[in-house]
Amino acid sequence: MTTLRQLTVQSLTHMMEEGTLSIPIDDEARAILRNWMLAARQAPARPSQPQPVVDSRPSAPPAPPQANTAPPAPNSVEEKLAYLQMRAQNWKPARALGTLRNTMVFATGNAHAQLMLVGEAPGYDEERLQEPFVGRAGQKLNQILAAANLRREEVYISNICKFRPDMGPNQGMSNRAPSDEEIAACLPIILAEIRAIQPACIICLGGTAAKGLLGSGASVASLRGKWFDCQGVPVRVTYHPSYLLRNDTLPAKRAVWEDFLAVLEQMKLNITPRQRRFFLPATS
Ligand code: URA
Repeated sequence: MTTLRQLTVQSLTHMMEEGTLSIPIDDEARAILRNWMLAARQAPARPSQPQPVVDSRPSAPPAPPQANTAPPAPNSVEEKLAYLQMRAQNWKPARALGTLRNTMVFATGNAHAQLMLVGEAPGYDEERLQEPFVGRAGQKLNQILAAANLRREEVYISNICKFRPDMGPNQGMSNRAPSDEEIAACLPIILAEIRAIQPACIICLGGTAAKGLLGSGASVASLRGKWFDCQGVPVRVTYHPSYLLRNDTLPAKRAVWEDFLAVLEQMKLNITPRQRRFFLPATS
């Protein structure tokens, strides 16, 4: 006879396979699932099934990183991200399109970051090294972070699309922006990353990230300078670092810098008078 537990697991597994990452549940359901999970953990080892992330908001903000002694607590941020990374690997909605390449590039940085940066999609270098923003655009991003007194390791860096968009057999090192369908297919993953990390602030690096997180196809120029909201997190939009590679001008650098200054202020980080003047024309 099929038990309620088996039925529930079957139906949750089916939902997961179809692309559901998390479901809102009430306290009673949470308590039942937690007991089943605990029982499964205490049971003799069996091939493990991925467990759906139980969306436990509202909850206390994540604890600061601890010395690396204890295993991550159940449903810790690290555990949620590991789960999402595992799910992204075989993410059916993206794979089903057949327009994205095979290698999945997840995210990098600090699971407890206050600042989350969201780019477009991995390119040639990112696919090769399986890490976001490691090519020329990544070097530019590192420079901006350094100017803001932030290290790459203390922020969280991810992309809207987790796979390099395909351009056919002669793609070589060329890259393209993800299509609207590709953005939509990958969107549940980045939204779940945001819910797991609960950063104080998000920066959309470029129009593709803004399209995904804000649902706006407006130009970056028109989205800059304002605060938006994504799942309760304040969002600022700025130019993609590769825009600065193409436009190596003082006004372009200042524009991006002003967006970062606004974010540093929002996060109540110290800004020196010298930092405030970065990329302003020299006064005579
Ligand atoms: N551009 C992006 O938007 N993301 C990367 O990871 C690399 C380049």
